[in-house]
Amino acid sequence: MATVGSAARSRHVMRKVGIPMLLLLTLPMAMPPAQAHKGAHGVIKERMKEMTRMEKSLRPINAMLKGKRPFDAEAVHEQGRRILRHAERIPQLFPQGSLKPPSEASPGIWQNFDDFRHRADELKRAALLLMEASAATLPDVARQVQATCKGCHEKYRIEKD
Ligand code: HEC
Repeated sequence: MATVGSAARSRHVMRKVGIPMLLLLTLPMAMPPAQAHKGAHGVIKERMKEMTRMEKSLRPINAMLKGKRPFDAEAVHEQGRRILRHAERIPQLFPQGSLKPPSEASPGIWQNFDDFRHRADELKRAALLLMEASAATLPDVARQVQATCKGCHEKYRIEKD
């Protein structure tokens, strides 16, 4: 019977693809942190996406700093402008009580909201400097931007991976 034949064939195929299938199943565990916001909803998903976009904005700048890309004032200006736009939205993306898994936000944000907002303001200032950076000032300015990201993460983000 054709069905028995095809079942036997597919069993044979299953045996052959067994190991690659297993590898496929373990792949999600090896996903980069940028995918960590899978499963998040609403404002939590929105802020994770915006944070990830800021990280992406820093990539071409880091490439310039490493000499992998020539300095491009226009590109730096554009990435600075994007970071500024996200930084402006940070306080509103953290409404009181928005702390469901898989959020990595620390409850401390809402106990020290003035400090949290102040750190978002610092990022705005650093982003404005980035928009005006020259080849000579870029290393310092980029360091300042990254220190602002890191400072806030150290205090208010509980990294789970
Ligand atoms: C005012 C505080 C603050 C500043 C400034 C800040 N972040 Fe974040 N960031 C957070 C918090 C809090 C989280 C965790 C949010 C959550 O999981 O709900 C986070 C999460 C992230 C994530 C993980 C997103 C995800 O998908 O889980 C990335 C990437 C990130 N930030 C990049 C940046 C970069 C790059 C900068 C600087 C350009 C920056 N952040 C500046 C507070 C900040």
